[in-house]
Formats: sequence, structure tokens, C-alpha cells
Amino acid sequence: MFRDYTESGSWTEQTLIENSADFSEIHFRQRVAVDMSGRSTATQMIGQDVSIPVALAPVGMAGMQSADGEIKAAKAAERFGVPFTLSTMSICSIEDVAAETRKSFWFQLYVLKDEEFVESIIQRAKDAKCSALVLTLDLQILGQRHQDIKNGLSAPPAPTFANMVDLATRIRWCLGMLGTRRRTFRNIVGHVKDVTDASSLVKWTTGHFEPRLDWAQVRKIRDMWGGPLILKGILHPEDARRAADTGADAIIVSNHGGRQLDGAISSIRMLPSIVEAVGDQIEIHLDSGIRSGQDALKAIALGAKGTYIGRAYIYGLGALGEAGVTSALEVIQKEMDITMALCGEKSPDDMSRENLLLPKEFGADFS
Ligand code: GLV
Repeated sequence: MFRDYTESGSWTEQTLIENSADFSEIHFRQRVAVDMSGRSTATQMIGQDVSIPVALAPVGMAGMQSADGEIKAAKAAERFGVPFTLSTMSICSIEDVAAETRKSFWFQLYVLKDEEFVESIIQRAKDAKCSALVLTLDLQILGQRHQDIKNGLSAPPAPTFANMVDLATRIRWCLGMLGTRRRTFRNIVGHVKDVTDASSLVKWTTGHFEPRLDWAQVRKIRDMWGGPLILKGILHPEDARRAADTGADAIIVSNHGGRQLDGAISSIRMLPSIVEAVGDQIEIHLDSGIRSGQDALKAIALGAKGTYIGRAYIYGLGALGEAGVTSALEVIQKEMDITMALCGEKSPDDMSRENLLLPKEFGADFS
């Protein structure tokens, strides 16, 4: 059920599919006889040094892909020199991850109806010295993913006959889970009033997420937090303008990995219009559809300063734990480096639209 959770998009998965497919409509312009010595994939995202412009996206329940998964992913990110973003809907809590890492990580916030909880979790992120708050704006209501309903997705899995049969063939996973106490949503359970069972993501989001979230509330959260703020889930130039007006540090052009509004346009196809609208006012990041260093570089060349991977690192985490996340990041760095070199560039910061060939209609004015 956790692999299905990772792989699923909402409804027909049109947006999930197009997110990746649209990257392959973009081509690189090869250049030759350009000095390619002294290259580096290092740059910055919101002024913080990164070894590649690829952060680990917030992913719910990463601690169900591998025992203590968020700690493992955060450690891999810290060693590699990229930001790790801890989801509100993580298995390991903010405190668990802070206790096991030395560098700061980013925290992703969902706005819940319980205002005291929102205040307290922001305070907990401050206490843990998180160096950015990633505020998600596109999931106040959960997109429907058929597989999760079919599987009865919950953390930990309910002891049904079907789950027992499934678990019996996953001995390594079971042993890992038996070796940890972290098996449910530890940012929430024990922190939200009267909640003792938050094991179902679907029930939890339906009952507790704040449907009235608006720009005034975004500003309130900005003030409560007082640190670097990234607004996630922007797909419309008008929303990008409003986001920039809040004084946030960056926006993430995102359709939530095709998991929310099915039929929404791919992030990469929307990027040019958003760069056009606010590129001179706010730093722009992009997620949804990035599976390789080449994809990330295409987004950078179109004006994003940073990108995020979700599924691409979760596969590594599920297969090999921390080493698998490191491996995924190494693959991506190598792809970026070789691609940059063959495009005749030495740094992600040098990549521009000049390095790409786009079909005529690509990124046409969607404002
Ligand atoms: C949560 O962010 C999800 O996409 O399931």
C-alpha cells in the first residue's frame, strides 16, 4: 500500500503522466569545443548553499517506506548537501529528525483547523532550528487516489487479512518496522487535542485541514514563522503574483506530483508564464515530474532556481534506506554534470533558455 501511495496520481492520472511526458518535449542544444573544465553543480536555493539545485520534497509517510525513513532521508540529504523537507504528515516527528541530524532541515506545513496546533507546530519547527518553512497551499482537500482507497491506506497498516498476506512477503520491511517505535504520524498524534488515532491520511485530512485557508492566513503564518518562507502549489500566474506580494522568499510551481487536481497542466509547461509574471520579484522553484538530473536542468534553464524530487528519492529509500537516497542523488548529480558539460555550461546558474529547444507551443502564454 505504501508503494501504491508513492506511485499514485489522482483520478485518471492524466496530470501525473503529463508531468513527466512534457519534460521529454524539451530538447537540449548540444555545444562543442567549449572548455568544460572546472564545472560545478553547486549553487544556492533561497540563499542556502546546495551541492545540486534539487531538494528532497516533503513526502507523507516516508517512514513507512523504510523504518525511520525521514531520519534516513534527512541524513542522506545532509551528507549530500541538499535540503531535506519534512512533511507535516511524516512518521518521524520534527524532534525525531532534529535529534538525529546536525544540519538544519526544512519543514512543510499543512494548515489545520486547530489554530493552537498550527501555532505550536510552527514553534516546534523554530525550536528545531528549521531553516525554511514550506507552506503547502494546494491540499486543503485531498485529491482522490483510487489505490489508496482500495488499499485502506493507514499507518500503521490495519491488521486485515489482505494486509497480513501482503506483509508476510515483506520480511525485511516487517523486521525494520518491529525495530522502531515510529509507526504513525508523530507530528500529530499526542499533539492535537483529543486525537489518539490519526492513522488514516484520508480521514485525517478530511476532518482536520482548514478549508478557509486564504492569503490573509498565509500572511499570518508568515508573521508567526518570521523566517524564510516558501509557498508550494502555485500553478497560476495570478496566484504567483499574490504569493510574491506576501513577501515570501520563494514559490514552488507545483501540481503536487499529479496527486491533487487531475487534469491540471504540468508544472514544467506552466513555468515560463510564471517566470514571466513574477521572475523578477521572487525566487521560483519547481516540482512535479522530475525523475532525472536532465529534468531538473530543464527546469533550471527555464528559470527555476531550484527543484524538488519526491518519488525519485522515495524509490531509493524504499529499496535501500539511507544508501538508496544517496544513490538517487548521485545519479541525479551525474546526469546534471554530464548534461551541463555537453551543453557547454559550467554551472546550473549559467543554464538558460538558450540551452533548450522548445516546441513552438510549449509554455505559450497561459496567463
Ligand atoms: C500528501 O502530500 C500527498 O500527496 O499524499
